[in-house]
Amino acid sequence: MNDPIYETLVLPIEDGTVALPDDGALFLRARTGFPSLPTAQVLCEQSFRPAYDALIRSGFTLRDTNDGRAFGLTLVLPQRQRDENRALLARAVMSTRDGGIVMAAQSNTQGAKTFENELEALAGNVTSLSKNKCRVFWARIDQSQVDSDLLEAWLANDAPHRNDAGYLSRPGLFAWDRIDAGSQKLIDHLPADLSGRAADLGAGFGYLADAALKRCPKLTHIDLYEAEQRALDLARENLAEYGDRAQFLWADVTRGVTGDYDVIISNPPFHVDREDRSDIGQAFIRAAAGALKSGGQLFMVANRHLPYEDTLKAAFKSVKMLADTGGYKIIQAIGPQAKRK
Ligand SMILES: C[S@@+](CC[C@H](N)C(=O)[O-])C[C@H]1O[C@@H](n2cnc3c(N)ncnc32)[C@H](O)[C@@H]1O
Repeated sequence: MNDPIYETLVLPIEDGTVALPDDGALFLRARTGFPSLPTAQVLCEQSFRPAYDALIRSGFTLRDTNDGRAFGLTLVLPQRQRDENRALLARAVMSTRDGGIVMAAQSNTQGAKTFENELEALAGNVTSLSKNKCRVFWARIDQSQVDSDLLEAWLANDAPHRNDAGYLSRPGLFAWDRIDAGSQKLIDHLPADLSGRAADLGAGFGYLADAALKRCPKLTHIDLYEAEQRALDLARENLAEYGDRAQFLWADVTRGVTGDYDVIISNPPFHVDREDRSDIGQAFIRAAAGALKSGGQLFMVANRHLPYEDTLKAAFKSVKMLADTGGYKIIQAIGPQAKRK
């Protein structure tokens, strides 16, 4: 698949303008792409499970913790949310030794020039290059010239804090500063007498799972499946009061879920970056069907334009629209079709 931001990021390395240090580079929010970077020379960091798995499959080494090592080159690919991206730049600068380079890329339509100006404000000395409707820009780091007040402020803005609804959250997570209206509607339509073992597919910071346990006291257990580690870590804290009743799984749900659940709830993702991807929601529906008991039930919410009906009908014996309101559809699907062996 085309990835012009990645391709633009690696251009200065490809043409020799920026050298990969002999002792290796760090790549924050790394992803695979073409042309590939040499796996032995690039240490990757990635908290989103599908991208993490793709990097592992390609032979890269992933770091799980920051051991404080400083690099001669740190590469950064941005996310969607401004405060998360500013913190990524701050962390990149902190991870780079004096005389080393921080290099990032962004597409013009997603604010490349603003992102470049932010690196300039933090570290100065920025050089840039435009290609593929994107910009790649880099700064040579002199730690004595770094704006440390800005760096601290950007790290603080990205730190976990309680949102207005009382949940620990942080920038970049789905509906990070509020309760999503669709998720709220799903909870409002959940039968309060649901019982047994449950799962939440794409659990975010844990709102749906927490609200379901509160609304349905006969649910004995819930497994929260979430691909983004930044969200899952906070879900674990948000649901700490339930002890062993809640378990937290860092997983790519599109690859299927193993289980024997009575109930599954989900507000499935339907974007990758800014691109609409209903195939991901469809994969979530198939994963739910594969992880439910024969009489089990899926309750899901989706924006009403998303094409899920055919997938639901193929995977479940009975599909019912519980509500069609405010641009959302709330769906109950009962009794998955016989599981394939
Ligand atoms: C629409 S949000 C719902 C979040 C939360 N359940 C709520 O209702 O507020 C979908 C969630 O799915 C996660 N996600 C995206 N792709 C995923 C995947 N392949 N496997 C598991 N979770 C994924 C996202 O990180 C996001 O937290």
